[in-house]
Amino acid sequence: MAAKNNKAGIVIIALAMISAVLFIGFIMSQDSGSHRQTDDNRPKLGGPFALTNHIGQNVTEKDYLGKLQLIYFGYTFCPDVCPTSLSIMASALDLLTPQERKKIYPIFITIDPERDTTEYMKDYIINFGDDFVGLTGTAEQVKDISKYFAVYYKRVEEEGASEYLMDHSSYTYLMDEKGKAITVFRHGIDPKDMVQQLRASLKEMGSG
Ligand code: NI
Repeated sequence: MAAKNNKAGIVIIALAMISAVLFIGFIMSQDSGSHRQTDDNRPKLGGPFALTNHIGQNVTEKDYLGKLQLIYFGYTFCPDVCPTSLSIMASALDLLTPQERKKIYPIFITIDPERDTTEYMKDYIINFGDDFVGLTGTAEQVKDISKYFAVYYKRVEEEGASEYLMDHSSYTYLMDEKGKAITVFRHGIDPKDMVQQLRASLKEMGSG
């Protein structure tokens, strides 16, 4: 009985030692991983595009460099998801000082270019702030930019409904002044959390 217990004790101690070694190894690999990742953990999003803004001008990604860009993809007929996301964006921007806000382009890009003409875009975005930019284009142009941001969208026809709906992903993208992605905000984020990230990125922009 006693000998058996002793053996079990030795096995337990050995297992504990092995797990300790494995655990330390795990922590060390995590640590070196995080050091390596500083620049690589940024999402690879964004790219060149040609679209039309809400006042009918042809624009490209170059027109929005030099400031941070807060980008959301949706459509003006959207009953709830888009207005919610754009309201969060507007609330976050309202929490900034005018000086901070001047360094950010809030951009709404339609995934429903068939209905979202420049006129619709202009009437819609003014609800969220007079610095908001609305971008539309041909079906092909919208498809191109959506690919760069891994945006999903699909037209949904409902029987008996006079207007179709668009099924779409709902993320807000933060890009730096050079057009590189900083982070992606999930749907329904607290505007205060968005502000925290915006201020950190503005600070980085000012120092870099
Ligand atoms: Ni929507």
